[in-house]
Amino acid sequence: MGNVTVIGAQWGDEGKGKVIDWLADRADVVVRFQGGNNAGHTIVVGNTEYRFSLLPSGVAQGKLSIIGNGVVVDPWSLLDEIERVRGQGLTIDPDVLVLADNACLVLPLHRDLDAAREALAGAARIGTTGRGIGPAYEDKVGRRAIRFCDLADAPALETRIGRLLAHHGPLRKGLDLPEVNAETVMAQLGEVTPRLLPYVRPAWRELDAAAAAKKQILFEGAQAVMLDIDHGTYPFVTSSNTVAGQAAAGAGVGPAAGGYILGIVKAYTTRVGEGPFPSELKDETGERLGARGHEFGTVTGRKRRCGWFDAVLVRQSVAVSGIQGVVLTKLDVLDGFESLKICVGYRLGDRVLDYLPAGVTDQAAVEPIYEEIEGWSGTTHKARSWRDLPAAAVKYVRRVEELIGSQVALVTTSPERDDIIMMRDPFRG
Ligand code: GDP
Ligand code: IMO
Ligand code: MG
Repeated sequence: MGNVTVIGAQWGDEGKGKVIDWLADRADVVVRFQGGNNAGHTIVVGNTEYRFSLLPSGVAQGKLSIIGNGVVVDPWSLLDEIERVRGQGLTIDPDVLVLADNACLVLPLHRDLDAAREALAGAARIGTTGRGIGPAYEDKVGRRAIRFCDLADAPALETRIGRLLAHHGPLRKGLDLPEVNAETVMAQLGEVTPRLLPYVRPAWRELDAAAAAKKQILFEGAQAVMLDIDHGTYPFVTSSNTVAGQAAAGAGVGPAAGGYILGIVKAYTTRVGEGPFPSELKDETGERLGARGHEFGTVTGRKRRCGWFDAVLVRQSVAVSGIQGVVLTKLDVLDGFESLKICVGYRLGDRVLDYLPAGVTDQAAVEPIYEEIEGWSGTTHKARSWRDLPAAAVKYVRRVEELIGSQVALVTTSPERDDIIMMRDPFRG
């Protein structure tokens, strides 16, 4: 059996958490490779609902779970999350959780900057999660971030904090934010360091050892391709690469280690925050999708914008990310619609496009070209076998497959762990 890389192929919240949890049963190691606590992955097991932001979804199955170097980690958020899920009965200790020693931290000053910039941007705001993710990645690339390994090295830490504040001092002043001094940052970090260090290890060595022992590794993506810093709807994106290609760099393995690339795709489309959304429905049908799909953000509680399935977008995600198969999630949400629409192209002025252009003006201007497809009166809810699906639902899945140019490997039919239909085993490629 090979490894599997799981990524979102739309604008996030496709149901990655559920799929990773389900796959984790047969994996030995689960590793997160980008993003931070902007992610929110919900997993439902019986009467228990777990919500993970930073913890890899593998912890729900007690699998070795690694937060890779590509992730930016807010220590306070992580420690809260650990306490929260421990309260739900999960074991989180250094045998289960590893924090890459070279992962960068998100600090309170990053959150301040995120909030101040969003407030200042007014109508041009991105609608971030406010978790400081963008500013933290900026500091990483600017070579002034603090990493886990610095926490155990007092002289290095002092130097790092000095570099960081030399940048943030003038910025904060310009934004009318209160001054932060080195002692404050040192004291803040001092509080959490003893609780973090037991988990800090060279994560790449864990993965190297796992590979040598022929163990199954599951790479867990957060956000999604259309939020990718390069390939997404820039600037309405997150600040990391979310494509499958990031799995290797963000975990510390070679590009071939990612194995089968599984894209998670909702049977319709949602988006949280600002930015273009060609197939958005600002009408009763959009409301109906949102209500049936309980489309509220896991992290911020914001209402998710809803629309029809956009095959053009997903086909683009498949291409830029090398997706080999998809999981079509939340098919049950479409139960009861008399007819459904799928976006199969865009109209831009007098031109017809089969891709989403890169420019902001064009992205805002494209109008969806729809194909109408018959709905079904039966139910797909909780179906676990292909045979249990109404004929029209099968037709919908097949049409999606055709339009996106990738096979549908699995279909999910409820939030519950085992409500899933497998046509092709991702671990077997
Ligand atoms: P993620 O960020 O991609 O992990 O997705 P989220 O957890 O943020 O959002 C997906 C939501 O849909 C969660 O509340 C899941 O419990 C729920 N969900 C996942 N799969 C299904 C499904 O097949 N049907 C229904 N109705 N809900 C699902
Ligand atoms: P999961 O992993 C949906 C969106 C935010 C905003 C933009 C930038 O649960 O699918 P950021 O805080 O990252 O700077 O915000 O990205 N966003 C998400 N939307 N699901 C997520 O994660 C998201 N993470 C960030 O709403 O539009
Ligand atoms: Mg989510």
